[in-house]
Amino acid sequence: MDNLALIGFMGTGKSSVGHLVAVHLGFTFVDTDQLIEAQTGRSITDLFAHEGEAAFRAQERQVVQALTDRVKLVIATGGGLGADALNLASLKTHALVVCLWASPEVTWQRVRHQTHRPLLQGPAPLARLEELLAHRAAIYREADVLMNTSQRQIREVALQVAHEFQRAQRELTAR
Ligand code: S3P
Repeated sequence: MDNLALIGFMGTGKSSVGHLVAVHLGFTFVDTDQLIEAQTGRSITDLFAHEGEAAFRAQERQVVQALTDRVKLVIATGGGLGADALNLASLKTHALVVCLWASPEVTWQRVRHQTHRPLLQGPAPLARLEELLAHRAAIYREADVLMNTSQRQIREVALQVAHEFQRAQRELTAR
């Protein structure tokens, strides 16, 4: 278990929490959406618009593969990445996978005024959010640790994630 990966739906705070946890653990922070943007030279919005979702998902799988030989990373993933069984299985080979969770209502309040998420730019974004969340819930629950972020400060969630990671590391070394 060399790394820590954060999965979960859009708006659960993966990147904000991930930054803080990385500082706390002395790890390097990476964000899969940023890696894809650097790799393709395009924003996620552009990539969806010009290449389509399937091309974006293929980029995600490449990034997941490239992370398998890295260590001391806190990896914040795009919301759909950890909802793919193969991606999740790959992350679990080298990382403690923590899923950040929030209710649909809280998630909606967090994302409703943001415009950088192509999947929520259609005519009925709340219905789409609920549909995606319902569809993904079972696989998100396969994470090693589930953490509710509703009504909680980012700093508090980050501290708890860091503690979970340290505890998991101690358990492994005690074996
Ligand atoms: C997506 C979530 C986004 C980004 C892309 C697709 C998803 O990341 O990867 O827009 O499928 O849920 P965030 O979870 O960081 O918003």
